[in-house]
Amino acid sequence: MVEETGLVRQKAVRLFFAIWPDKETCMQLGRLTGRLASVCEGRKTKAENIHLTLVFVGEVDASQMAALYKAADEIKDSGLRAFDLIIERICVWKRKNIVYAEINEIPPPLIDLVEALQSRLSLAGFSLEERPYKPHITLMRNASCKMLPELVESMVWRAREWVLVKSDQTSDGPVYTPIGRWSLEG
Ligand code: 2AM
Repeated sequence: MVEETGLVRQKAVRLFFAIWPDKETCMQLGRLTGRLASVCEGRKTKAENIHLTLVFVGEVDASQMAALYKAADEIKDSGLRAFDLIIERICVWKRKNIVYAEINEIPPPLIDLVEALQSRLSLAGFSLEERPYKPHITLMRNASCKMLPELVESMVWRAREWVLVKSDQTSDGPVYTPIGRWSLEG
């Protein structure tokens, strides 16, 4: 909080909800991104930044943070289940100019989690994007690829928790910091 000319100005933060990979999955996806970088021009996602976005919240004022945590807390008891993400294919999304890891057969509990978050956050007064949810794991931006690597075997990413993440833009690219964590188990 910064006090200025008698008014209290509260700093806004840029937030999103996501699934973050465990250490092993993070290393696997990091290696895959390294392979991609050898056949594509573009900006690869740093291994520590690889994630699956659930809901992009956008700029949130400090005064709204309590309401955001409350909305997230309220969905944790609504029968959400852990799930596995199976990755078998790397794809190009031409409109966004990204290369991403595709999720094979989107697990229903992932959609349940996204819909629960969307509806709780909307009820709490947060305005969210209206475009349909398309789960994807961005591996490279501004990408131009001669070819795409094929996966020798499918990758299994076990989603056991979801996180609230703060995004800061720096001269070295985005820095993501988890500021909340909710379990999908029991
Ligand atoms: P992307 O990887 O396809 O760009 C943090 O910015 C995360 O939120 C990214 O995974 C990004 O998806 C996603 N996101 C969704 N909507 C966004 C928006 N309007 N602006 C920035 N990021 C957005």
